[in-house]
Amino acid sequence: MNNFPYPSWLNDAVFYEVYPQSFQDCNGDGIGDLPGVIRRLDYIRSLGCNAIWLNPCFESPFEDAGYDISDFYKVAPRYGSNADLARLFEEAHARGMKVCLDLVAGHTSTKHPWFQASARAERNEDSDRYVWTDSVWTNVPQGLSQISGYGERDGNYVNNFFHFQPALNYGFAKPDPAQPWQLPVDHPVCRATREEMKNIMRFWLDQGADGFRVDMASSLVKGDPDFTATMALWAEMRELYDREYPEAVLIAEWSDPARAIPGGFHIDFLIHFNFPGYTSLFRAEPDRDLFRIFKDLGGSFFDAAGQGNIRVFLDEYLHHLKLTEGQGFISLPTGNHDIMRLAHGRSPEELRVALAFLFTMPGVPYIYAGDEIGQRYVEGLVSKEGGYNRTGARCPMAWDDTPNAGFSTADPAMLYLPMDPRSDRPTVAEQENDPESPLNLVRRLLALRRENAALGNDAPFQPLYAEANRYPFVYLRGNPDDGVLIAVNPAARTETCTFSLERSHSLRPLLSSPATIEADETHLTLTLPPVSFGIWGLAPEKEKDQ
Ligand code: NOJ
Ligand code: CA
Repeated sequence: MNNFPYPSWLNDAVFYEVYPQSFQDCNGDGIGDLPGVIRRLDYIRSLGCNAIWLNPCFESPFEDAGYDISDFYKVAPRYGSNADLARLFEEAHARGMKVCLDLVAGHTSTKHPWFQASARAERNEDSDRYVWTDSVWTNVPQGLSQISGYGERDGNYVNNFFHFQPALNYGFAKPDPAQPWQLPVDHPVCRATREEMKNIMRFWLDQGADGFRVDMASSLVKGDPDFTATMALWAEMRELYDREYPEAVLIAEWSDPARAIPGGFHIDFLIHFNFPGYTSLFRAEPDRDLFRIFKDLGGSFFDAAGQGNIRVFLDEYLHHLKLTEGQGFISLPTGNHDIMRLAHGRSPEELRVALAFLFTMPGVPYIYAGDEIGQRYVEGLVSKEGGYNRTGARCPMAWDDTPNAGFSTADPAMLYLPMDPRSDRPTVAEQENDPESPLNLVRRLLALRRENAALGNDAPFQPLYAEANRYPFVYLRGNPDDGVLIAVNPAARTETCTFSLERSHSLRPLLSSPATIEADETHLTLTLPPVSFGIWGLAPEKEKDQ
């Protein structure tokens, strides 16, 4: 056991999310694969990322892009073999990188043999592996969703997301005694579900995986409005990690760090710029639309229109930070496969300001593949594998100016999804040579983060100027003596602010410093041009006097 409540590698971890089907195709069938991820490991490393989150790569009918698993122990043939995945672990480790997989713990595909058995009329050992009511005329309690009339079994099953994603049975926090089909969490059948999930994790951790991102982590125990039983479940899973795999990590898709971290996760995402309505599916309190700092919901803070309110984000963020500091990490991802691309509707300057913010905040940074070049959302696509409006955020990675932008040698008609058809689509190759490109900005920001302890994942954070409906936003990382000061002004107008700094106010530019700075004994006044950011190192006062 180490002295941290988490493995020490998380202190400087930076993750890169690989959506395998859209990343790099190696065998020319038009679909990205595991050999493709291996081929691009050096590129991922070159960004300053030292960890990967791989979306589900297991056998699946792919009705929800692999979040509908039919065999947890087998890599989907379209991505390669179990041996390819083991090789990915090896190749990554040889480069000092970690690989975390995606654990879809809450549900399976209806095609999974467990569900097929469970849906049969006659009792069998899988009958209670999923949550079924005792007749098709018995409805599930409010707040849960059900599918009726699936097959011969006389009952409705609870589905977690789409209709083909039946909920595995982890029991009810407070089963209704009048509804005996609602099993308690400690029922042997529900215990068996937990044990099976542990075995799935052990199986891949033993092959070299470094942890799991857990899909819909808050969804497991049913009828658990305050999530007490769900947290207890994850705390038990965490014990397995601390005991058997102390270097491995559990990452939640919960978007409620104040619950997820005390519940046992090492990291939780605050998913902060979703499509309208989507966030609420995962949030503890569905009515809170608190993360409007980015553009697609309108009125966001990171928008040249400058109509946003940083406090909407910040008050919520600080609440979570206070309750989790020192125990685990909050992640503010650049995006993911479910949400709008960061670059969407955003000018290159706006994108730069957003990136500067994301990579100077505390927590473990996550880059969704392509966001480092400002890859764009593709409008108007027909839904692919349950993507619906998420589909346009899942188009293949554009590497260079060869056919299919280097993603695949297949006929363009055979690609998993079309490439961004715009002639000015960003590519890695073109941005490599441009010192001002988003790609090189990401590299510089991540290098700065590595080189300055004050920008570390666990280093302190203190807002210095964060007024409701005002710009800019200024914050300090590390200590006032030798910390790093960051100011972001996403608005398309010059903004000035004055604030006090406890000790020293001698500023040394670290990356960009477009601002005019005036300092007196106790105050700093910063004037930032439209759509700009600055990052400065704080030097102790005596140095300034010399
Ligand atoms: C969250 C995943 O990120 C998303 O892609 C998936 O559709 C749902 N969970 C259901 O598993
Ligand atoms: Ca392929």
